[in-house]
Amino acid sequence: MPEPIPLLVPCVPAPHELLPWLERMHAARHYSNFGPLVCELEATFATQFQVAGAQVTTVANATLGLELVLQALDLPAGSRILLPSFTFVATATAVLRAGHVPVLADVDADSWMLTPDIARAAHASMPVAAVVPVATFGMPHDMQAWQQFETQTGLPVVIDAAAAYGSQWLQNGEGTLVFSLHTTKSLPAIEGGLVVSSRPGLAAKVRQLSNFGINLDPTAEMAVGELAGTGTNAKMSEYHAAVGLASLKNWERNAERRRALHSNLMHLLNTASGQHLRWQKKGSGGALMAPTLLCLRLPDVRHREALEYICQQQKISVRRWYLPLLSHMPILRHRCLALPAPTAAALSDTLLGLPFFWGMTDIQSKRLEDAVSQSFGMLCNSKLLKSGHKNGLCVRLVDAQP
Ligand SMILES: Cc1ncc(COP(=O)(O)O)c(C=O)c1O
Repeated sequence: MPEPIPLLVPCVPAPHELLPWLERMHAARHYSNFGPLVCELEATFATQFQVAGAQVTTVANATLGLELVLQALDLPAGSRILLPSFTFVATATAVLRAGHVPVLADVDADSWMLTPDIARAAHASMPVAAVVPVATFGMPHDMQAWQQFETQTGLPVVIDAAAAYGSQWLQNGEGTLVFSLHTTKSLPAIEGGLVVSSRPGLAAKVRQLSNFGINLDPTAEMAVGELAGTGTNAKMSEYHAAVGLASLKNWERNAERRRALHSNLMHLLNTASGQHLRWQKKGSGGALMAPTLLCLRLPDVRHREALEYICQQQKISVRRWYLPLLSHMPILRHRCLALPAPTAAALSDTLLGLPFFWGMTDIQSKRLEDAVSQSFGMLCNSKLLKSGHKNGLCVRLVDAQP
């Protein structure tokens, strides 16, 4: 029996790399509440993004970061917020938890992202109060284009850049970015998030809301310690900041390795498929600098089912990333407004995530290659019978000789 191949393997600093930071934390006896390590991490981010310190704040995770940014925008309760129907559930749940209504739009066929043009058309058919585009699988957005959109429409834009640390920058533009520092992302702090915003006062307000809403600003009109808003506890701890700081030291090397592995696998799998695979294309926002997963697009639903079947046989983990679409999730369906999304629907039939992690062996890559090649071979040489599986996902392969 082949050894299982996992989908993702976290790439986090080893204990000896963490130790210097943990010793500093312990010496300071400061473990949370914006301690020295959180402040150092935030100062590093401010330098990287070329913004003032007050325009950056860490948070406990990207989901809370999105929720608090939306709260800090002070939109009327129940406002309609546009987001892509093809995204992780957290984009929509953050909107709902902030007291608003997600409006689900289609995505671009090449970049698989909500673009300013799609948002303009969506806003014309169903007016919204803000837009939350997603940097899908870490692909960066063109911030100049979104800044122009903001100027033209007056709608605030908040980029859900959860997977895009190292790829998404402000690009000399204005904007609001929310990153995840989760274990599976390119800069892991185990759990964590980062908000960067050039919008005056926004990051500072998010920081205050992440600390229950208590005012900590001695220059504010209200006294320090007084409650300024109904916040929550979304602070990053010093432990998490220690992991984030240690991860920063390895970021460049790890990103380079991820890029090399990603392009090598894309090449191998493309060849194995007879050049029939399609991939997410970069737009004018720039390149993906630190891929965190491998998501391929198959020619049709049968090819995906065949590859899933082979991978199951071969103990290769796969994931239908971001699927089903939000508009098909029973919990969300009745709480969202859905615009027509034919491109997202087509993606939902054909995308499949395969294993991707630093440390993947040549033997494991070869097994992925063989699985792709077998699945394409099967569809050429065999009859496929759709079984009556309850999700319609399962295929039974008849006369198939891998
Ligand atoms: C698009 C998107 N938004 C938000 C999140 C949530 O990030 P976090 O786990 O830091 O809350 C994720 C997590 O993968 C994501 O992919």
